[in-house]
Amino acid sequence: MTFYAAIVVSALRNDQNKEIEMGVVGILTAGGDCPGLNAVIRGAVCRAVDLGFDVVGIKDGWEGLMNDHTMPLNREIVRGIFGKGGTILGTSRMDPYVHGDGLSTCKPTLSRHGIDRIIVVGGDGTLRSAMRLSNEGLGVIGVPKTIDNDIAGTDITFGFETAVQIATDAIDRLATTAEAHNRVIVVEVMGRTKGWIATHAGIAGGAHYILVPEFEYDIDQVVATLTERHDLGHRYSIVVVGEGISPPAGYEADANKTDAFGFERLGGVAYQVAAAIEDRTNFETRVSVLGHIQRGGTPVASDRVLATRLGVAAADFAAEGQTGIMVAVKGPDIVAVPIEVASEEIRSVPEELYATAKTFFG
Ligand code: F6P
Repeated sequence: MTFYAAIVVSALRNDQNKEIEMGVVGILTAGGDCPGLNAVIRGAVCRAVDLGFDVVGIKDGWEGLMNDHTMPLNREIVRGIFGKGGTILGTSRMDPYVHGDGLSTCKPTLSRHGIDRIIVVGGDGTLRSAMRLSNEGLGVIGVPKTIDNDIAGTDITFGFETAVQIATDAIDRLATTAEAHNRVIVVEVMGRTKGWIATHAGIAGGAHYILVPEFEYDIDQVVATLTERHDLGHRYSIVVVGEGISPPAGYEADANKTDAFGFERLGGVAYQVAAAIEDRTNFETRVSVLGHIQRGGTPVASDRVLATRLGVAAADFAAEGQTGIMVAVKGPDIVAVPIEVASEEIRSVPEELYATAKTFFG
């Protein structure tokens, strides 16, 4: 029997003996929100309650843990939330090591509620802080979350498929208006320093060029490809850019601000790319920065299922006393990996995938 199968069996056993007292598990969502957060919460709460836990919801990410903003969670409260965007717990970009002294700042809340294990749903910045709390002795079960799909140690993150679908729908719409007006439209998608959303949405939306942070580009090559396409009689072009690409030489903008985790706040590089294209081609060029629309609203079905599985598995691992771990996707399985893995170098778009996308440029 695999380790995970053993956990499931023990969960079933506990299900038949609901009087078993498991203690109190906390759950929080931190960092940028992501479609599927509510499905994780519902999955974790329902399974944890079945296993005999009391569950405390910690509001607004680490902020709630530092300042004792909490709410009780039970099956009734999480009923029907799986399809809603956002997070019923709220989130913030506060950090216990930036805005506090780590575990000692969180201890009063933990002891007041008797929380001995905590499920932390967050991206790489959040999981790094979770790892530090774990190293200080807190029982942590991490659940990776980001539309960027770039966290190390897991094959995919929930929210990504939804963001790709939203970006693809936007590209489909932008293509018809671009064609009507004989324009180039540069579509900027999120993803920070990785081009997963750009590559997937670009392939799915039939983009005529895709620029991602992982691979350098030559703006003259972009222009040559678009010119050739327009020379062939095509009236429009769609260029998809990941927000983390460098601007073309000579079009640099002011440095961006940083957030609480020290990450640069990205957005707007499409304007520099568009200016460089228009200057070199005289094609009328417009920009669409998709921004937070990619994170809002209801998750697609595959994200609802993935998020539910991760939430349920997190509660199972909590019951097994498996802490200092991150719940991860490995092929068809949900497994536990050491939480340190989330702090390793984030996952890049592989060359083969980008080569597939390139096949359709022009
Ligand atoms: O990491 C998720 C993400 O949506 C990135 O793609 C984006 O750069 C960033 O968060 C935006 O963060 P904020 O919501 O703080 O503007």
